[in-house]
Amino acid sequence: MNKPLEAVIFDLDGVITDTAEYHYLAWKALADQLGIPFSRQFNEELKGISRMDSLEKILTHGGKQARFSSEEKDQLAAKKNEHYLNLINRITPADLLPGIWKFVADINAAGVKLGIASASKNAMTVLEALGIREQFDIIVDARTICHGKPDPEIFITAAKLLEAEPSACIGIEDATAGVEAIKAAGMFAIAIGPKEQFEKADLVYNDTSELSFTEVAKRYRLKE
Ligand code: BG6
Ligand code: MG
Repeated sequence: MNKPLEAVIFDLDGVITDTAEYHYLAWKALADQLGIPFSRQFNEELKGISRMDSLEKILTHGGKQARFSSEEKDQLAAKKNEHYLNLINRITPADLLPGIWKFVADINAAGVKLGIASASKNAMTVLEALGIREQFDIIVDARTICHGKPDPEIFITAAKLLEAEPSACIGIEDATAGVEAIKAAGMFAIAIGPKEQFEKADLVYNDTSELSFTEVAKRYRLKE
């Protein structure tokens, strides 16, 4: 049986709110301008990945990585971010994904700590717009870490700040790179999305409306 659960650490984009869709739209617009094919399937590879790493992947995908100087790449990334900021401008608490508010409230009520581990530099803006920032004890975003997901650094840092043992934490992600980061951190991993995409996860739900803290805590407890 596992140690008593100490903390639950959430990814933000695509788990708490559907900003994954806004990232997709903003990257797609940039890729279209650059004449680079951009499918939803390819977009899966960008989920959880930092802004600059995503841009590099897109340029490589289009065979154009050597065409731009680093200043030009900064400008392309800034352009994507400007578009993304325009899209998230309209976020309100109504944009919390189904079941998230109750799931977070139930974790709080059980005396289990709550953290955010987001690769986004816009994490704070999004959490404030959703009105859910205060529910989390700590927030670790791309500004605080050196290595992005699938490196475990962001989840390990979150656990440290929460004064929790990684093996007594649950991480929740919608990205393959994110689930890899959670497992590399030695945590119990919950994935949101199609089962076949997340072989490494301990528990997979199709969408957030299926999250129940009673069920999750039970599955965590029973994990070998
Ligand atoms: C992650 C998203 O949370 O943050 C990625 O899954 C995104 O799609 C990354 O590229 C970086 O976000 P931002 O807001 O710093 O450009
Ligand atoms: Mg995500």
